[in-house]
Amino acid sequence: MKAKILRALKETKEEFISGARLCEQFGVSRQAVWKNISALKEAGYEIESVSNKGYRLVSSPKRLYGPEIECRLSEGNICKKVLGFDEIDSTNTKAKQLAEFGEEEGTLIIAERQTAGKGRRGRSWSSEKGDGIYMSLLLRPKAIPPKASGLTILASLAVAGAIKKISSLPVEIKWPNDIVAGGKKICGILTEMSSEESYIHYVVIGIGINVNTETFPEELEYRASSIYLETGEKTDRLSLVAEILNSFDTYYKRFMKEQSLVPFLEEYNAVLVNREKEVKIYYGMVETAKPEEIESGIAKGVDGDGSLVVLVDGKEKHIVSGEVSVRGVMDYTD
Ligand code: BTN
Repeated sequence: MKAKILRALKETKEEFISGARLCEQFGVSRQAVWKNISALKEAGYEIESVSNKGYRLVSSPKRLYGPEIECRLSEGNICKKVLGFDEIDSTNTKAKQLAEFGEEEGTLIIAERQTAGKGRRGRSWSSEKGDGIYMSLLLRPKAIPPKASGLTILASLAVAGAIKKISSLPVEIKWPNDIVAGGKKICGILTEMSSEESYIHYVVIGIGINVNTETFPEELEYRASSIYLETGEKTDRLSLVAEILNSFDTYYKRFMKEQSLVPFLEEYNAVLVNREKEVKIYYGMVETAKPEEIESGIAKGVDGDGSLVVLVDGKEKHIVSGEVSVRGVMDYTD
C-alpha cells in the first residue's frame, strides 16, 4: 500500500491528491490511508497535508527504502516485494533463509550496509554504509539446474546496461559476471542455488555495486573502483536499482520463455572485456595455483550454456563458471 500511495503522490507531482481519491483508488479506508501516510513521513518523506485539499509530496529521502523501489518498478515485474534493511549480515543469507521458509519468487532484500557480505569463492565483500548497492533477488525459475548460470549472465547484462543508462559510464563484463570500468571491478554478482537433480528450489542473485565509494583500502585499489571514481559524479542509487530490476525483468521473462541464452549472446559478447584477448585459466585458486594448474588461450566469447569458449593450442575449450577462474594476462582484466 505504501508503494501505491507513493506512486500516486509522485504522479500528481506538485498538485494535491485528496484522501478520498486515494481511498477510492485503492479500495481502503481513510484511516488506512492516514496510517500509511504517517509511516511514509516517519520513513523520511516530507508530505504536506492540507484539509479539503489532501496530500502533496514535498521531498523524498535518498535511502534504499523498499516502497520507494517498489513504486518505481514496471507493471507485473518479477520483483514483487522489496525488504529494505539499514544493516544486515548478508542480503544473500537473508534471502536464502526466507526462501527456506517458503518465501515466494520475486522478493528483493536490499541493505545500506552488510556486516558479513559474501563474495565468490568464499571471499568477503566489503559493504560500507550508504555508498553502495547490496541486494539479492529471490527467484524460483521453472527450469533445470544447469540453466541457473544463465541467470547470472542476464543479471550482469542488466547491471551493465543500467549503469550505462543511469551514469553514462561505459562498462564491460568480465566473464562470468564482474562489471568492470577502466580495467577495475565495480560490481560483483554472487548467485546461490538450492536444487534437486532436475528441479530448482530457488536461486538467489546477489548483486554488489560500488556506486559512490570514494576510496578503497590500499590492497584493493589496483583492481576495485566505483562509478563515482570513474565518472567523478555521484549516482542516484534508487534510480540505478530500479533500472536494474526493470531491465532484468525483461531479460528474465524472455529467458524463461525461450529457455535459452542464445538470444542474448550477441549483446553479452559485445561487452565481454576479454574477448579476442589472451586469458589465463586457473584450475585452482588464482593466488595459489601451481604452474601446471594454469593454461593460456584466447577468449572467443560465451556459448549457449554460459560457458566461456577459449581457444587453447588450437582447440576450443568450454569453461564452466564456478569450476575455474579466468584472468587477463597483464592484470585483473586484460
Ligand atoms: C564477487 O565476489 O564478485 C561477488 C560479490 C557479490 C556481493 C553481493 S552484495 C549483495 C549480496 N550479498 C552478499 O553477501 N553478497 C552479494
